[in-house]
Amino acid sequence: MGSRKPRNGSRNGSGQASNIWFLVSVAAVAISVAVLLTVAESAMSGGDDDDSPASPDATATTQTGTNPLPSVTQPAATNTQPAPTTTTTSPAISPTATTRPGETFPRIDCLDLYAPADKKHVMSADCAPGDLIPIPGGERMRREAGEALIAMIDAAAKEGVTLLAVSGYRSYQTQETIYASAVRGFGQEYADRSSAKPGHSEHQLGTAMDVSTPSEGGELEESFGDTPAGRWVAQHAHEYGFVLSYPAGAEAITGYMYEPWHIRYLRKDVALQVHNSGKTLTEYLAGR
Ligand code: DAL
Ligand code: ZN
Repeated sequence: MGSRKPRNGSRNGSGQASNIWFLVSVAAVAISVAVLLTVAESAMSGGDDDDSPASPDATATTQTGTNPLPSVTQPAATNTQPAPTTTTTSPAISPTATTRPGETFPRIDCLDLYAPADKKHVMSADCAPGDLIPIPGGERMRREAGEALIAMIDAAAKEGVTLLAVSGYRSYQTQETIYASAVRGFGQEYADRSSAKPGHSEHQLGTAMDVSTPSEGGELEESFGDTPAGRWVAQHAHEYGFVLSYPAGAEAITGYMYEPWHIRYLRKDVALQVHNSGKTLTEYLAGR
């Protein structure tokens, strides 16, 4: 799918025109101010969310939640891999449905390490992990995932590869802001290809991180995938328990454009299974 060259500063690697990105950046700043003024954000259970960078993957405002979800081709659940057995806390999917007008999704538990956080499932707005730790650079992740990420960053550094942790945990409210900003900056259709609606982002799990590298200016762009750091991530992330959630050419399955920077923690055994399966994480989790 669209390997449009992403813009500088495009936090989502989405390659829209630079002027669009500029507009979004301006909007993001304005919105950030608004958010700071209006939300004492710490109302979030367990405290807060990070300041995600501005972009479709991280931008800002408030969304009503009434937009229809784009239809995503959901793969048949043909996966025969053994189901991941470990969860850090409460396992998964309650049959409860929710929530926005006109939309009903199975609800997932944001504390489930293997929750299918995608366009077909939703997390509660108040679901937030309580074990977030700081990651060098200012982001946060759940403890186990964060420790694995730090180990991965250290290992990469030993091989001369610099990885920057750019955007980690995001609350529902932060994702709401980001998504709305993406809609304003890019339009609904493009926003839905690059940014999750609130309640649908892996970042709410606290186990996903967007990584970049200095040669990319710390930005999240598709070109990251062609850097030594991006190649290192693609080749080695699973050794530390991470997988790329949105690989190239899989938008029809994952619902999102290629994001060579977005990795999710699954623990080493499951990450290896997913890596070797040839399936997207979306497919893998659907087959649990
Ligand atoms: N960019 C990914 C899909 C997110 O917003 O979670
Ligand atoms: Zn991401």
